[in-house]
Amino acid sequence: MKLVFATHNQNKFIEVKTMLPHHIELLSLTDIGCNEDIPETADTIEGNAILKANYVRDNYNLNCFADDTGLEVKSLNNAPGVYSARYAGNTHDSTANIQKLLKNLEGKEDRSARFKTAIALNVNQEEIMFLGICEGEIIKELRGDSGFGYDPVFQPKGFDKTFAEMTLAQKSEIGHRGKAMRQLIAYLSK
Ligand code: IMP
Repeated sequence: MKLVFATHNQNKFIEVKTMLPHHIELLSLTDIGCNEDIPETADTIEGNAILKANYVRDNYNLNCFADDTGLEVKSLNNAPGVYSARYAGNTHDSTANIQKLLKNLEGKEDRSARFKTAIALNVNQEEIMFLGICEGEIIKELRGDSGFGYDPVFQPKGFDKTFAEMTLAQKSEIGHRGKAMRQLIAYLSK
């Protein structure tokens, strides 16, 4: 079975490809000749995943899935959420995003937060959503230099390390994206 992963992110693509059962031939957007940035104009994380998956189904008539992730901070009314990549502006600058987040949390008692990954799968006329959630808190300073995005300030619940102080394997085991991906893989392996 051919299945498109609606991403231009080569790292994500390789990570997922190595996890999938062999009967699935995973194709990237580039593989199907789609070089556009699919608009992410929904106002929820789930909505953006659905938009991207539907774009591929509607324009290429292929089975596909798409993911979207956001960081939800409780005392900021779940911001930055769907705007996580562009919290401090359209440059998608992680350092600026973290600085804005730390500033907005100054003086707040409750620093609890969670990452949420939504994966929308469109396969054989079915639409299925998988969610992966990782609870934790935003610490006051940056620690670690692995990972990306908000990893240096996100400490998952029950751990004394940030995501940026963990190996990719550790992060995948307990993290939002790994949890959602494992549900997708279990479904496709049936
Ligand atoms: P995307 O939907 O995977 O592109 O993620 C949107 C934004 O959320 C990214 O630009 C990052 O700022 C943030 N983000 C997503 N996943 C992670 C993660 O695993 N760690 C830290 N930040 C993340």
